Amino acid sequence: MSDDRLIVALDVPNVLAGMDLATKLGDAASFYKIGLGMLTGGGLALANELKSEHGKKIFLDMKFFDIGATVEAAVRGVAQFDLDLLTVHGDPHVVRAAREGAAGSNMKILAVTILTSLDRDDLDGSLIKAGSITDLVQERAGRAFDAGADGVIASPQEAALIRALPEAAGKLIVTPGVRPVGADLGDQKRVATPAQAIADGVDHIVVGRPIWKAADPRAAALAITAEMASPQAKSPNK
Ligand code: C5P
Repeated sequence: MSDDRLIVALDVPNVLAGMDLATKLGDAASFYKIGLGMLTGGGLALANELKSEHGKKIFLDMKFFDIGATVEAAVRGVAQFDLDLLTVHGDPHVVRAAREGAAGSNMKILAVTILTSLDRDDLDGSLIKAGSITDLVQERAGRAFDAGADGVIASPQEAALIRALPEAAGKLIVTPGVRPVGADLGDQKRVATPAQAIADGVDHIVVGRPIWKAADPRAAALAITAEMASPQAKSPNK
């Protein structure tokens, strides 16, 4: 019944609320994203419980960034838990270190290109080279793939451009900012529907509030799954 192209963001206040949501969703969801907010409140234990006792897949959204040796050690620590996806920043030295740390496990490394919360002024403030954000995102994605990333996190607007890169062949594109038709956008500004995202060559969509804030989260997840399976969601690129 579930479709693991849908990753449910468990951005709920604590581990109990996370398990409660997973219970409500049951077989309507098979893949969960656990981020830093949940991690510091016991999220790794929840990740392990969902994985080992409930057979769910887990995406740990840690966005690691540090010197190579520290990234490698941090990723090696996470790799012991047999989780499925892990994010690091897309700087080549970070990605290479993460690959080393993940060696021998099945965990895939996803690179963050440029945080979607940053605009050109922010990049200027951080002394990031000139150029449009779209061009920089494409360039950073290409470099992350060359450094060994299994995939990237990309906004819906960037997904098709990244999918068109030669380096992206066989790589994963995972996209937040997805909203079913008619859903509340929340603070997401540049959104796509599940069908559009899949048609743009996205492998997994990450959806949080439209599911966990819904009166009936299970029905919301099933509706998104149905939308991904619709003919409009056929990817021309894959
Ligand atoms: O509730 P919503 O569907 O907007 O949740 C999207 C999830 O994806 C959240 O966990 C959010 O932190 C994450 N995310 C995002 N935009 C990014 C990176 C991650 O919305 N650029």
